[in-house]
Amino acid sequence: MEVGPRDGLQNEGKIVPTGKKAGFIKLLAASGLTDIEVASFVHPKWVPQLADAQELIKQLEPNPNVRYSALVPNMKGLERAIETGIRRIAVFTAASETFNRKNINMGIQESIDAFKPVVARALKEGMTVRGYVSTCFVCPYEGAVAKEKVTDVTRSLFDLGVDEVSIGDTIGAATPRDVESTGGHLLAQFPARQLAMHFHDTYGMAIANIYQSLQMGFATFDSSAGGLGGCPYAPGASGNVATEDLLYLLDRLGIETGVSLKSIRIASHFIAKELARDLPSRVLKVS
Ligand code: HMG
Ligand code: MG
Repeated sequence: MEVGPRDGLQNEGKIVPTGKKAGFIKLLAASGLTDIEVASFVHPKWVPQLADAQELIKQLEPNPNVRYSALVPNMKGLERAIETGIRRIAVFTAASETFNRKNINMGIQESIDAFKPVVARALKEGMTVRGYVSTCFVCPYEGAVAKEKVTDVTRSLFDLGVDEVSIGDTIGAATPRDVESTGGHLLAQFPARQLAMHFHDTYGMAIANIYQSLQMGFATFDSSAGGLGGCPYAPGASGNVATEDLLYLLDRLGIETGVSLKSIRIASHFIAKELARDLPSRVLKVS
């Protein structure tokens, strides 16, 4: 699941023109990726980089092999999403109260209650819905997060009708032992095919956490081309695991992904040039 155009760009100060974002997404789509999160219908004042979500989605060329999706925090966001014709959305909450309030100005239960009509309406419109749980391991405000809290919030999202829940290490502080504990608790209750792992790479642990997750049976991973990314409401959080680094690992393990590492590198170089900065991916640095 490529989240570079959303999670990646949302934390970049330099505003990328809409046409360039569309160009970046076109390159990503050409790599063989089947799922790309392209935008976010949050308040434009909160995340100015993604304020052009509606224009951007209208510019995307339909590609039968790719599912585009966008974040939606509330009914207002869903209405904006429906207007663009996008077929998949994602609602997002957290396993920590303080983080959720800072991020979407709602408590956890309050957000689940608010998502109920949003998910119901999206499903009625024929859309599909993903869910995210942030701060599943460590919260920047509350510290360690209990695995029981993560499974409770995950269940609440499935009960609303989402088809997949992404388990976020929002500030990139988890280690393989945390993944073993919380991931094991999740797998005891939900099928692996309905769970995705979403690792940020602040402490350089993302690849180790992915390897741990693979051993346990997880098979869906969120990543950002070049390692772009971060959450503006999680101080100190760095980018997602780089798609190149993830692909290098999977290729070397003999796991078929259908995604071309060479094509991802082209997409990453394209966006790095737009942002006028080097991206953190290790594999991208090897020529
Ligand atoms: P709020 O201020 O509580 O909203 O923000 P409100 O409902 O009180 O409305 C206030 C005003 O905002 C109203 O306008 C609404 O119409 C407007 P007014 O009447 O004052 O003129 N408004 C909107 N406008 C456009 N689009 C909307 C929208 N909603 C309300 N959707 C809100 C609540 C959720 C909107 C706000 O807190 C927000 O936008 N937060 C964004 C947070 C965000 O984007 N965080 C990053 C993404 S999450 C992430 O990165 C984590 C993840 O990667 C996983 C991981 O790593 O853990 C997914
Ligand atoms: Mg994230």
